[in-house]
Amino acid sequence: MDNLAEILVTPRLASIGMAGLTANLEPVPPYAFVLDRGMDPEERLENAILWKTLKDRAGSQIKAYDDLSKVPDSVTHIFGRAGHRSDLFREGLTYPGPMEKTLPYWTVPGFLELAGRSIKLCDLDQADAEVQRLHLDGKDAFVKATRDKYFTKQVPVGTSLWQALDAMVYSFIDEQACLLVQEYVEMTYEYRLFVVDGQVVTGAGCIPWKTPLDNTALYDPAMIEHRGNNKVGGPAMSNLRLDQYLAFASEAVDRLGGGSFVLDIAMINGDVGIVELNPMRLGQVGIYAANVRALVDAVLNRFG
Ligand SMILES: Nc1ncnc2c1ncn2[C@@H]1O[C@H](COP(=O)(O)OP(=O)(O)OP(=O)(O)O)[C@@H](O)[C@H]1O
Ligand SMILES: [Mg+2]
Repeated sequence: MDNLAEILVTPRLASIGMAGLTANLEPVPPYAFVLDRGMDPEERLENAILWKTLKDRAGSQIKAYDDLSKVPDSVTHIFGRAGHRSDLFREGLTYPGPMEKTLPYWTVPGFLELAGRSIKLCDLDQADAEVQRLHLDGKDAFVKATRDKYFTKQVPVGTSLWQALDAMVYSFIDEQACLLVQEYVEMTYEYRLFVVDGQVVTGAGCIPWKTPLDNTALYDPAMIEHRGNNKVGGPAMSNLRLDQYLAFASEAVDRLGGGSFVLDIAMINGDVGIVELNPMRLGQVGIYAANVRALVDAVLNRFG
């Protein structure tokens, strides 16, 4: 009969509009997970798999929310999806912390030596000069904004930076260090590795239609030759390439100084090189066919 009071009192509170009061008395789990409300089917599936895996590990310590605005201020960890990557960041969180907010990887020692191509950090005028320098050398350019997921474009010989930027140019005026001007190179067999606390914990080929449901090994061997390809194939499946990638990754992690990040690598002009690094934000970065259990275990052991 212990819960008789609750049975009698809760409906009464509800009837006088105070049901919220009883709900507020429940402790808030320290981990929050934001569910994906976007339209991309692979992203929604990845989000669901990630939620299930975190829930299996964290149990009553984690709660899902259908909107970031509903996540209480008292939580210590936020995982999952938001409109923009940095939206999940709040001062004072244990995870994501400041290191997971943004990652200006072009300043990380070792990156430029492992990029396999020229990369120059520029303001607008410097970017124009660097594009012209590459063009005079007979090379196409590739321009990427330093602002997260904002702008990337090829600038072929015979065209100009201004044509490539078009109306976007206005968003770069008066900004220092806003563009990375790179030599345009052939990038094939792109592969994503998840690095937690200096350890490569899992990885998979960057294949847009693959999710962790397709995972076949800790380092999934499937790759596509070009980002736009619509089928897995050929020499990409060779374990030799995977061995080469894993050997490169473990050396790269040391040269990058360890830490936690998402490491994208590829064959760049015939050698293994780094495409880019992204912050280790579970739920904000494509997992492809990586092993989500290994990833979640490593992240919770490090940040939990
Ligand atoms: N220097 C380069 N030359 C040729 N292609 C490149 C170069 N740099 C990047 N790419 C290609 O462009 C893609 C996007 O570049 P990058 O990953 O650096 O930017 P991003 O902002 O993360 O974009 P996305 O979210 O589309 O991956 C890479 O996956 C690669 O296929
Ligand atoms: Mg990328």
